Amino acid sequence: MNSIIQNLRTAYHAVYQGEPLLVRAPGRVNIIGEHTDYNEGFVLPAAIDKAIYVAIGKRADQEIHLRAQAFQAQVVTDLSSVRRSEISWANYPLGIVDQLQKNGYHLGGFNLMFDGDIPIGAGLSSSAAVECATIFALNEIFQLNIPKIEMARLAQRAEQTFAGVMCGIMDQFASLFGKKDQVIKLDCRSLNYEYAPLKLDGYKIVLLNTNVEHALGASEFNTRRAECELGVSWVQAHYPEVLSLRDATANMLEQCVAPKDEMIFRRCLYVVQEVERLLEAYKDLQRGDLAALGKKMLQTHAGLSEMYEVSCPELDFLVDAVRDHPAVLGARMMGGGFGGCTINLVRADAVDMLIETTSRAYRQAMGLELSAYIAQIEDGVSALS
Ligand code: GLA
Repeated sequence: MNSIIQNLRTAYHAVYQGEPLLVRAPGRVNIIGEHTDYNEGFVLPAAIDKAIYVAIGKRADQEIHLRAQAFQAQVVTDLSSVRRSEISWANYPLGIVDQLQKNGYHLGGFNLMFDGDIPIGAGLSSSAAVECATIFALNEIFQLNIPKIEMARLAQRAEQTFAGVMCGIMDQFASLFGKKDQVIKLDCRSLNYEYAPLKLDGYKIVLLNTNVEHALGASEFNTRRAECELGVSWVQAHYPEVLSLRDATANMLEQCVAPKDEMIFRRCLYVVQEVERLLEAYKDLQRGDLAALGKKMLQTHAGLSEMYEVSCPELDFLVDAVRDHPAVLGARMMGGGFGGCTINLVRADAVDMLIETTSRAYRQAMGLELSAYIAQIEDGVSALS
């Protein structure tokens, strides 16, 4: 058993006594399909070997005691006074409690302590993992019988209402539905999904963390979402059947959006192209054509950087630094943007060298340290015995 779990159990004993239920909920990578989920397109995520662990137990009263080991901090409230907190980490579990109560699920008081090894602000969805671990744990101890798909929706809603990010469903879905060595092709409109084996054939998924987290991330994210919705409303005026960018074509955007606003046009065109690109990339993956997939990852990065404008100099630097390397098939920024990680497809025997040279170049150019992880694809949420 890993040391995080052992320490969490020991800490739970010391603070709350009793034997807790332990739950693991992983972070995620996304192979391709960025900023497509809230446009009802497709995404291609997978759960990884970095996770949030929750230790939870019932209380005899109506109180909620939350502890984040990483911050050595505690928040106490009770079931009848759950509201957004000034303390940002507390909003993830509190948002879940709020959603459960609003949807008619009956809870009692509980103690919840969490820790994990997902780097915060790295674009690996540590916040979704806290939400998913919490909802899964509460479902277990209070026997709520919530279907997993409903957990994903409630956790997404918790993020939107308590963390204030108008996110799509990808992160929560991946943390709950991940499967070892499989990617999930998720249709974010119907929520139909299928798994496909991630056959990497001597390649590794390498995450390069810029270690920058731009404060504008959340507000820019919400702005992008609004820009997409504005574009859709202009298309709808001519094509009422278009309900989201999922339904739009480049021609429709040329006709209805380009004449009105060049920037909104660029945003929408990126999304329309990315939805198409994902469908092609999924075929590449199934065919085992990693080189073709890698090229599309680079195209996605260009779109995110130049058209959707959610990259930053550090992310662009890291993609540029590796893109022509013979052992690198593809590279792009991953997740919401404005910081966090790039995801890279790198030949296994070249990984160490690549990390070393890129770290040096990054330090020289940006004056920052790089962190690198090799992502293993693992199962989604589970209770630990
Ligand atoms: C964040 C959001 C997701 C998704 C990605 C971008 O991770 O939480 O819903 O929109 O950004 O693809």
